[in-house]
Amino acid sequence: MSDKSPQDPVGDKYRDSYNRHMLHPWGNLPELGKDEDITLITGGEGAYIYDSAGHKMIDGPAGMWCMQLGYGRKEIADAVSAQIMELGYSTSFFVLNQREVELAERIASKTPGDLNRIYFTTGGSTAVDSALRLCQLRNNIKGDTQRKHIISRNRAYHGSTFLAASVTGKERDKTAMDIRKEDISFLTAPSQFHSGHNMDDDTFCDFLIQELEDKIAEVGPENIMCFIAEPVLGSGGVIVAPPNYLKRCWEIVKSHGIFYISDEVVTAFGRLGHWFASEEVFGIVPDIITFAKGVTAGYLPLGGYAVSDALMQEISGENAGGNIYSNGYTWSGNPACCAAALTSWDSIEREAIFEHVHEVGPYFQEQLRTLTDIPLVGEVRGMGLMAAVEMTIDAPEEELLDLDYDIGARVDEYCHQFGLLVRPFINICIMSPPLIITKAQVDDMVQAMRKAIELTLEDLRQEGIWRD
Ligand SMILES: Cc1ncc(COP(=O)(O)O)c(C=O)c1O
Repeated sequence: MSDKSPQDPVGDKYRDSYNRHMLHPWGNLPELGKDEDITLITGGEGAYIYDSAGHKMIDGPAGMWCMQLGYGRKEIADAVSAQIMELGYSTSFFVLNQREVELAERIASKTPGDLNRIYFTTGGSTAVDSALRLCQLRNNIKGDTQRKHIISRNRAYHGSTFLAASVTGKERDKTAMDIRKEDISFLTAPSQFHSGHNMDDDTFCDFLIQELEDKIAEVGPENIMCFIAEPVLGSGGVIVAPPNYLKRCWEIVKSHGIFYISDEVVTAFGRLGHWFASEEVFGIVPDIITFAKGVTAGYLPLGGYAVSDALMQEISGENAGGNIYSNGYTWSGNPACCAAALTSWDSIEREAIFEHVHEVGPYFQEQLRTLTDIPLVGEVRGMGLMAAVEMTIDAPEEELLDLDYDIGARVDEYCHQFGLLVRPFINICIMSPPLIITKAQVDDMVQAMRKAIELTLEDLRQEGIWRD
């Protein structure tokens, strides 16, 4: 049994049942049914979560990049409860509800350019899938039927539905599940640290842009449907591209009539201090922006995309060729989910949350970077309230993966003891705390990380894995 068991009977009871009955996202199949250590989360308040073993921890990843306002928001609970009593469900397939319209109007008021039309889905994967399928529909209606190719990037994460998973570039997620391989290309992730290159930012950016241009020339611009990119690669390890990279990519793809999909599932709704980051942070006006997660401050599932009037005009009215938009979800535009989003929106404005992100974000980045003096820390990077601390260890390639997995998990486990939950992703600890995080809580996070990494390093020394 786990060493937690003597003090954690509740956790053990649930873990036992979990092991018999559940399969989790990214479940470790060789260990299925044998996980005696998984943390049982029992409550949340503000930026903190509680587990069944009695730990109170800052929620480092804010759930999964989504709990923008932290836990225990009564105004959201009240609004959702009132909405359920007034109208608990309404389909968007053939009727309309007030909340979805109100939310669409607000979103359209914050999107760049003419991205005025909003389509609601149930989350990020369905948003990405729907956006890609909208581009296919447009090309098929317009007679551009050869334009099928999608350009994505290594280390990108775009979701778990078939098409979204197919454009995901995280090598280690490509296991035995089928994905579509034809008509999809992956470019180098815009990370010097992982590319093995040692160039200045401008030269590295030129290299990446040249690669994009070469790929367009190789495939033929007339065959390329879209370029899809997260403004900051999130789950791939919080990778911030060199300055101007996104803008240059956008200019190039637009000059070839290729659609630009900006996947803002993580970056929208305040993570970088804005409703949407595409234009305000990176100076681009994509054809489609996908969103999810933070739109409801994580309280209920909702996602969607905003698409340009220009694109929709090409496939509607007389241009539609009699087609319908045959894509939808039972919970598209669900009134309770939209009520959660509207109330979260009000709270963000009332509490000036984005101003707070502008103040606390740079402090968070600066303080985390102090960890680079620990020899195990290879790089600390990030932007706004998203960051990654990457551990590097010198070992033969064939041993590296196991060691890497172990290191992220070890740091995370120590962090629990010091009041912090991080998201271990292989050898990287990802952090994207609730947007309400204070500077004092940032100090606590950094202190917990420091102690956890130092103890992990000490263990590695004692086990002979780390040699100074
Ligand atoms: C950039 C990005 N796109 C899409 C998704 C998929 O979203 P969901 O898990 O809501 O389907 C994620 C999830 O982490 C994401 O980070």
